[in-house]
This record gives sequence, C-alpha cells and structure tokens, in this order.
Amino acid sequence: MAEVIKIEGGHKLNGKVRISGSKNATVALIPAAILAARGPVTIIGVPNISDVASLSDLLRELNVTVIQKSQDHIVIDPTEMYNKPLETQAVTKLRASYYFMGALLGRYKEVKMKMPGGCYLGPRPIDLHLKGFEALGATVEYTQGSYHIFADELVGAKIFLDISSVGATINIMMAAVYAKGRTTIENAAKEPEIIDVATMLNKMGAHIRGAGTNVITIDGADELSGCFHEIIPDRIEAGTFIILAAAAAEEMVIENIIPQHLEALLSKLQEMGVDMDIEVDKVTIRGGKELMGVDIKTLPYPGFATDLQQPLTPLLTQANGESTVKETIYTERFKHCVELQRMSANIDLSTAKATIKGPTKLFGDIVTATDLRCGASLVIAGLIAEGVTEIHEVYHIDRGYDDLDGKLKGLGAVIWREVA
Ligand code: EPU
Repeated sequence: MAEVIKIEGGHKLNGKVRISGSKNATVALIPAAILAARGPVTIIGVPNISDVASLSDLLRELNVTVIQKSQDHIVIDPTEMYNKPLETQAVTKLRASYYFMGALLGRYKEVKMKMPGGCYLGPRPIDLHLKGFEALGATVEYTQGSYHIFADELVGAKIFLDISSVGATINIMMAAVYAKGRTTIENAAKEPEIIDVATMLNKMGAHIRGAGTNVITIDGADELSGCFHEIIPDRIEAGTFIILAAAAAEEMVIENIIPQHLEALLSKLQEMGVDMDIEVDKVTIRGGKELMGVDIKTLPYPGFATDLQQPLTPLLTQANGESTVKETIYTERFKHCVELQRMSANIDLSTAKATIKGPTKLFGDIVTATDLRCGASLVIAGLIAEGVTEIHEVYHIDRGYDDLDGKLKGLGAVIWREVA
C-alpha cells in the first residue's frame, strides 16, 4: 500500500516558510563525518528527509553511533567504527551513498560497496569519481554490481575533471584528506554544497583550499577529529518555494535562504515579471502578476540549476508566449513534462529541450512523481490546477523535501495524503 499526495488547486497561499538545511550538502556531510578518527561530529540544520534515514542506516552498519538529538540535530560518533562491505538495500535507495566510497577509501584505503541508486535522470556515470581514486593510487574492480576499491597507500596527485562534477569533486576531496602530499582538483565543481563540505572537513582538521573555485587543493592531514557544523540552507528547496509563490501565492516570505545562491533563478524570475523583494536572508514574493515566457539553459553553478528547471516548468505554463528549457546536465530530465501534459500543459519535447507555450489552464489529474524534482514540479502544478491532482510515488518527494506538505498546509494549501 503506497501513499499518494492529493492537492485541491486554486487556493491562494499566504504567509512565511522557513527553508531547511541543504539536502545535497547533508548527504555528503554525513559520510564525511566518518573521516574523523575521533568523534563526535555534531551537525545541525539536518533536514528531515528519508535520504538522511538511509545514510544513517549505512552508518549504523559500520558501527558508527548516530544520535538524533532533536529534529534537525544529529551527533555522529565514528570512534568505534569498522570497515565492512556496504551491500544492503540502503545503498541502492539513493545516489549519495557513493560518498561512502571516498570517505571509506580515505579512512581505510579500502571500500566494497554496491552500485549506488537514486533518481533516474538518464545515464549517471561515476567514471570521474573512479578515475580520481585511481589517480590517488587506488585500484578499482567492479564485479556483479559491486565495487572494490583499494590501495596500499594514497598519494596526492593532480586531477583534471573532464566535467565539473559535484559528486566527483566531493568524493575526491574526501578520499584525499589523508593522502600523502598535495592533491589538486582542476575544473572542480563550484556548487555551494562543495564549500560546505570543505568547511566541515577543515573544522575536523583537513587542509582544503579553494572550495568554491575551480581549483581545489588538499594537503594530506594526519588525523581528523570531531567538530560542530551547521548546514547551509537548501537553495533548491528555497528555489522551489520561490517558484511556487510566484505561481500560487498572494504574498509569501521565504526565510533562511542565501539569495546569492539563487541569483540565476531570481534574475530569470525578474525577467518573467515576478514581483519580489530580496533581503539578506529572505525573499518576499507577490504572486498574481502577468508573466512573460523566458528561455532557460541549465548549467553548472552559478548557472541555472538543473534541479530547478523541473519546478520552474509549471510556472512557465502560466507565462505569456513561448518559453524554452534547454538541459545541458541531464539531457533526459524531462519526465515531468509528460506528466504536466496530462494536466493539459502545452509542451513540445525534443532532444534535451522543452518548448512551453502559455498561458494554459491546468487541470488536476492522476500523475506520477518519477523523480524528486518531478515531484516538486507536480506539486506546484497541482496548486494552480483546477480540481484535484493525485500524485503517485511520493517517496521520491520524501527523499529530498523536508515536510513539504506540512509547510504548504501552513501557507494555506489544501493538500493531504491517502493510502492508495
Ligand atoms: N558525470 C559524468 N561522470 C561522472 C560524474 C558525472 O559523466 O563521473 C556527468 C553527469 O552525467 C552529469 C554531469 O556530469 O551530466 C554533472 O553531474 P554531477 O556529478 O555534478 O551530478 P551529481 O553529483 O551526481 C549532484 C546532485 C544532483 C544535481 C547534480 C547537478 C547530489 C547528491 N546530487 O548530482 O541533485 O542535479 O549534482 O547539479 O548532490 C537532486 O537534488 O534532485 C539532484 C539530482
């Protein structure tokens, strides 16, 4: 018996919403904590999402103590930890389990684990992660769906990433914290989550410089220990609420955000005609304005985030004229468009591109959250559609949004869950 989310559209939202800690930082920070030879690592601002529960299960398999001090506050103590193969279902529940590769390789010079899972967005290779480990001196073997990565010793190296991959940058950083000498990652990804992970590792005693630029250097450390760290706000959750406010709110204040992390989105929304006030750590959006279509091209940070093109699409169906979304990161990340078409959106799909014509009235229907951000896209569509929208496979939404329905109810949405 699976849960569905139902939304009765057309109710105007009002009020304040507080953004949780960044999912994509959290899912790297939790594995990074095991690099502490002596604990504990205290992390606050942890979002209440099922990816955190899956990663905590993996930590427990490694005999790491995980204490949930309060809703958003966990303490991870790896002092009694041991290394063992990670082959349970928790590995395949999420993509970010791959961060245990870098973390365990860094700490023990050996890791055995299954192929990670996660949202299907088209092919998601991890060749750059593996090449990075090999450059540090590791051997990578892959048999029957499992990786075995091991080294006698890890030695710093110069690594050029062919694509500035977020995952590869973080994974290599973690594998290199104990490597002998200096590792340099060139063409590194610059996402804010990478800075957050480097900041926590440095508090633990690592020597990482340049995170947030495209050249990161890591000088090997002798021993890392516990620290206290507060996670940055989730820029994708923030972006989702900002878009949702433009689509369905009278006036909404989105708090606990870092507007600089959202510049590409905010400037596109301004171009569309969205009425907003941007302050130091919050944005106020007033909906109900006439909107113009825009052209979006997803790019690595600080460009327009691929994770926000899906939530943006339903808003584009409400804008005047033609909008285009070109996807350069995950060229097949358009499953949400097929679901939105069921709700009467006028969208043409071609290779790596969606063309949206608006404004179009949306109608509630039975739709499927094929991945996390598709789920967010359908929730936004449901809020503005006429009638009731029924969203299936909502476990994808629960993987990455902290209490999305609770936050929306607090803003006046008519949203509920049923067992289908
Ligand atoms: N790529 C390779 N080889 C690799 C690694 C990546 O070819 O070894 C390619 C990918 O196929 C993709 C591009 O490089 O075309 C960028 O991928 P990246 O490695 O940056 O993505 P990721 O680390 O797997 C993270 C986020 C994603 C987000 C992307 C892009 C996490 C756990 N995931 O994925 O978030 O879309 O960066 O910004 O941090 C989401 O939150 O919904 C989500 C999917």
